[in-house]
Amino acid sequence: MTIKTKFTEAFGVEHPIAQGGMQWVGRAELVAAVANSGALGFITALTQPTPADLANEIARTRDLTDKPFGVNLTILPSINPPPYDEYRRVIVDSGVKIVETAGSNPAPHLPMFHDNGIKVLHKCTSVRHGVKAQSLGVDGISIDGFECAGHPGEDDIPGLVLIPAAAAQIEIPMIASGGFADARGLVAALALGADGINMGSRFMCTVESCIHQNVKEAIVAGKETDTELIFRSLHNTARVASNVVSREVVEILKGGGQFEDVKDLVAGVRGRRVYDDGDVDAGIWSVGTAMGLINDIPTVGDLVARIVSDAEEIITGRLAGMVAQGVSA
Ligand SMILES: Cc1cc2nc3c(=O)[nH]c(=O)nc-3n(C[C@H](O)[C@H](O)[C@H](O)COP(=O)(O)O)c2cc1C
Repeated sequence: MTIKTKFTEAFGVEHPIAQGGMQWVGRAELVAAVANSGALGFITALTQPTPADLANEIARTRDLTDKPFGVNLTILPSINPPPYDEYRRVIVDSGVKIVETAGSNPAPHLPMFHDNGIKVLHKCTSVRHGVKAQSLGVDGISIDGFECAGHPGEDDIPGLVLIPAAAAQIEIPMIASGGFADARGLVAALALGADGINMGSRFMCTVESCIHQNVKEAIVAGKETDTELIFRSLHNTARVASNVVSREVVEILKGGGQFEDVKDLVAGVRGRRVYDDGDVDAGIWSVGTAMGLINDIPTVGDLVARIVSDAEEIITGRLAGMVAQGVSA
């Protein structure tokens, strides 16, 4: 048995599960493993220092899988913006057919992607942005709740309300994101009106994810309460692991500090040391509240197979049984 939805149909994948873009984490090995499991993985374009490196990373992924995969293009406010047009050109020239956009309005990218037969899954954190993206003609929405790792937006609406509120207005395929880690989450998302789920933190903590083992073990040990929301006062909130650095950033900004005052603490090179050297207190690293639901470090193939088969069991067993009992009572 498989679970077929508008999302699996539209994006040509076997399972209604995606692995969203993850800075420093979304690389060939992980994305190919996700593709081989029948789910949809995204290479994170900006993890690659140059557009040419992105072309290499796409080629490397192709060597590892013949299944579909995509590229995430995240557009966030930045002091020195990367050459987005060149990254976009590489995506088109590579022949990749699915892009996940995130961070801002996808309008400037749509004509070129659509002219080249590329489907766009736009990730956003509010119903109004989802509705706007739908009106612009994107092919799918990934609606990211307050639980998520990375940028949850400023509205603070968790998935339990955000997903059905979005489903009421989104007609194109829509997946739910933020706080999903297992089959219960998948079934809940489907019940709330989504056509599948997107997971970051859960895929980060798998065998094929190329980050230091210490980080994976910290995620297994961590609870749902072990994250911090940084940059709140700057209206650019990010959910990251709670550690000495993120707690200091929160304190400085709470005390009236500005970006300049925390710039060195949040520098990307410090975050890289976390993933490369395994020093989980070296800098800022993203993880979501789903950490409280992550208790192991499986292969991607085992994880996806487990989520799908457990979901089928919940739907046809536990839930169907409740309906039957209700009828006979
Ligand atoms: C380490 C890490 C890095 C991330 N980097 C990005 C990114 O560069 N662009 C993006 O659109 N989302 C990014 N995200 C968010 C994920 O794509 C996804 O939306 C989010 O993790 C979903 O929440 P979850 O972690 O609760 O599953 C990142 C998430 C993690 C865990």
